Amino acid sequence: MTNERKATLTVEGEQPVDFPILTPTHGNECIDIRALVGKMGYFTYDSGYLSTASCKSTITYIDGDKGELLYRGYPIEQLADQCNFLEVAYLLKNGELPNPSQKTEFEKAIRTHTMVHEQLIRFYQGFRRDAHPMAVMVGVVGALSAFYHEAADFSDAEHRTLSFYRLIAKLPTIIAMAYKYNTGEPFMYPRDDLSYTANFMHMMFGTPCATYQPNPVLVHALDTIFTLHADHEQNASTSTVRLSGSSGANPFACIAAGIACLWGPAHGGANEACLKMLEEIGDVSRVGEYIKRAKDKNDSFKLMGFGHRVYKNFDPRAKLMRKVCNDVLSELGLENDRLFKLAKELERIALEDEYFIEKKLYPNVDFYSGIVQKAIGIPTTMFTCIFALARTAGWVAQWEEMITDPEYKIGRPRQLYIGAARRNVAPLDKRA
Ligand code: SDX
Repeated sequence: MTNERKATLTVEGEQPVDFPILTPTHGNECIDIRALVGKMGYFTYDSGYLSTASCKSTITYIDGDKGELLYRGYPIEQLADQCNFLEVAYLLKNGELPNPSQKTEFEKAIRTHTMVHEQLIRFYQGFRRDAHPMAVMVGVVGALSAFYHEAADFSDAEHRTLSFYRLIAKLPTIIAMAYKYNTGEPFMYPRDDLSYTANFMHMMFGTPCATYQPNPVLVHALDTIFTLHADHEQNASTSTVRLSGSSGANPFACIAAGIACLWGPAHGGANEACLKMLEEIGDVSRVGEYIKRAKDKNDSFKLMGFGHRVYKNFDPRAKLMRKVCNDVLSELGLENDRLFKLAKELERIALEDEYFIEKKLYPNVDFYSGIVQKAIGIPTTMFTCIFALARTAGWVAQWEEMITDPEYKIGRPRQLYIGAARRNVAPLDKRA
């Protein structure tokens, strides 16, 4: 990984110092500056981490210029087409896709952990019925760290794997319970006879009054949505999970921290914000007005579902999401869905606009996901919960990669201090 090429840093009036260059499998080479402060006494300044690689990773690769996304080397297009979400979760954690017997074993392991402790149900009673489900998730997932003391030695691979099973298996149950608590309907227990995603839909939309049979087209669409959201390199919420985990914190607490970060409208909350934006635009005739606002430096309005820190080309997930959207709307006879037509027209107009072209702003994963989730029957406030359900697979895989890295240290960035210079406290009666 370290090649012979060096980067030489020369500061005026000081001796030049060499730093090794690290060579990746794909993507940008990295200058290893870990010795910088020791050798030269300088920090680097990179707020927002635009030019910073925070870790080495073998899990996900993104090429923003090509619009390419690989999970463990496999293109997202192939995984979405040929695998289901549980196979992808297995891949993210273990580095290889499961063979038939491994797949059967893994599905069985997940099935045995789908229920939550009956005492966890009481946590819901502490929330208002209209609490945002992401607030409920932060609380309830965090509360999982108060259970499972028997498997809390995370230096033990078996305890890490058991925590992975529990998180992948229980997130759907916890999310469905948040939805039922909001609607006032009874919680639905998981069903072992259904697939992972069909079971989630049963817990969301089923009732004790009748046997719920989910529409296989909608199950497949939702399962694909899970795959598209499963991991995405060192995004804000994944970096939050890694930083929390670097202190040795409990993985359930780390995932709760990731959920809290994902909730923000600039990150995972964008799908909810995007649907609200489309509802507000209302009609194609008003698209121009909103494009104008998005370009106005004095207007904080941003086109939700557009733009990305890494993708300066189409987000490959957005293309796949648009196809999923088409399939679901066709299945439900909603081909003329007003919001979908509006979204496609907004995309067309924006992609022809010189501002969006110059700034390389393309639709991202959140642009179509709200429309398809709404069509499936998922309430707008739960869109980010769906994102969190899927991203839990990536978060736990990244957390485990971090704590098993021989170079692992607690994350502790420094700063550029621009506050008051040293001064002395004046006695109270002498203060202005
Ligand atoms: C996700 O990191 C990940 O991988 C995240 C994610 C994942 O899977 O984990 O992909 C999921 O979070 C997708 C992004 C969802 N967010 C949105 O759709 C919200 C709208 N998008 C923007 O807020 C923005 O594009 C970000 C936050 C996504 C990216 O922000 P950056 O990289 O910090 O870019 P920027 O804000 O510096 O924008 C660069 C320029 C700016 O103009 P200038 O200051 O250079 O003049 O582009 C403009 C921005 O004003 N710009 C937009 C815009 N996004 C960026 N202008 C209008 N509308 C937008 N959507």
